[in-house]
Amino acid sequence: MKVLAIETSCDETGVALLEGRKVGEMLEFTTIKAALLSQAKLHAEYGGVFPTLAKREHIKNLPVLFADFKDEQFDAVAVTAGPGLEPALWTGIEFAKALAAEHNLPLLPINHMEGHIVSSLARPATSPDVHSSVLQNTRIVADVQFPVLALLVSGGHTEFVLMKDWFEYTLLGRTLDDAVGEAFDKVARMLNLEYPGGPEISRLATKHREASENNMQAKGKAWPSGHERPESAYYSPKLPRPMLHTDSCDVSFSGLKTAVLYALRDLGGMHTLSSEQLAAFAAEFEDAVAEVLVAKSRRALLESGAKTFVIGGGVAANRYLREELQKLVLEEFNDVEFRLPELAITGDNAVMIGEAALAHVLLNDWNLESSRFDLDIKAQGNLSLTKKVL
Ligand code: KG4
Ligand code: ZN
Repeated sequence: MKVLAIETSCDETGVALLEGRKVGEMLEFTTIKAALLSQAKLHAEYGGVFPTLAKREHIKNLPVLFADFKDEQFDAVAVTAGPGLEPALWTGIEFAKALAAEHNLPLLPINHMEGHIVSSLARPATSPDVHSSVLQNTRIVADVQFPVLALLVSGGHTEFVLMKDWFEYTLLGRTLDDAVGEAFDKVARMLNLEYPGGPEISRLATKHREASENNMQAKGKAWPSGHERPESAYYSPKLPRPMLHTDSCDVSFSGLKTAVLYALRDLGGMHTLSSEQLAAFAAEFEDAVAEVLVAKSRRALLESGAKTFVIGGGVAANRYLREELQKLVLEEFNDVEFRLPELAITGDNAVMIGEAALAHVLLNDWNLESSRFDLDIKAQGNLSLTKKVL
């Protein structure tokens, strides 16, 4: 079964061709070809994704990317139906509809968040498990123990979702305001860092932690004579840990963002910050986010009795968060399997959309012969996992 997948929910235009097989209980996904164009640089000057610009770029990019796929054969077309920016979603949907109509193929609407989950559950195949000859681009989903707890962290979403079985979702908690990626991006903007801010904050925070470690090691030793020990070497801003002790799996990040704003103002503004202070801010912000997400993950794991824990979405690329969650599972949840996605699959892409589509078909959740694929797909900006797309 081959599927051509299209993703245009935000600022990445993605097209991918995948082949899927079911071997016993194992799902095997081989990416035959994948193309991805990021608009992040274009949106950087707006400090975030600008929907009409995203739409224009997707319309321009889709035919360019697809040119490479036009001689390929496939059995279905899959496209992100939501959640995301509606003008952006529509571009992919219109393109996919035309393609499916032209080749008389089923059109499969995919929930973007499900793409993050399925692709995070998958791992690169190693030779003993694979039947495909294209080992290099083959990923498999095997031995999934339910219930699965998914922590979804992206620019638009932050939620704890419980999967009792394939495609059965319950929402355990969510952000009451900003998504965590959004908070990273907004705080980065306050710190004069480029959009998307997540990777930049993470880079500075790592730098700060490494410098603090060196400082600790140097402690006790005399500071080199003739040099004054800079105050900023010890600068440590304090930010709140919103909703850390509340009795739910909900989180909130807008207060954290405001706290950064006030802290900067108290210091006399961003321009007064030394590069060490800037890095200290980034580290404290990342610490605060990770501490809250670790505490809420602990709660969600306890509450749900999940056997598998998976994280997905753009922020799942965050090194510090990955390490802290790994520590949590290792130290407190010995019987839970933690699935960390490869960095290459965490950001938006079309491969994850293809994998989610293949999972539905291979697990017989969707039957390609069924007439319900004639349905008119609509962009659903707020599509939730708990609502079926089909
Ligand atoms: O899933 P994604 O690619 O797009 C959405 O569906 O929103 O997530 C994008 C978000 C952005 O907010 C970006 O700043 C954040 O993921 N991000 C990170 C990192 N890499 C990307 N946040 C923190 N640390 C990172 N390393
Ligand atoms: Zn995403």
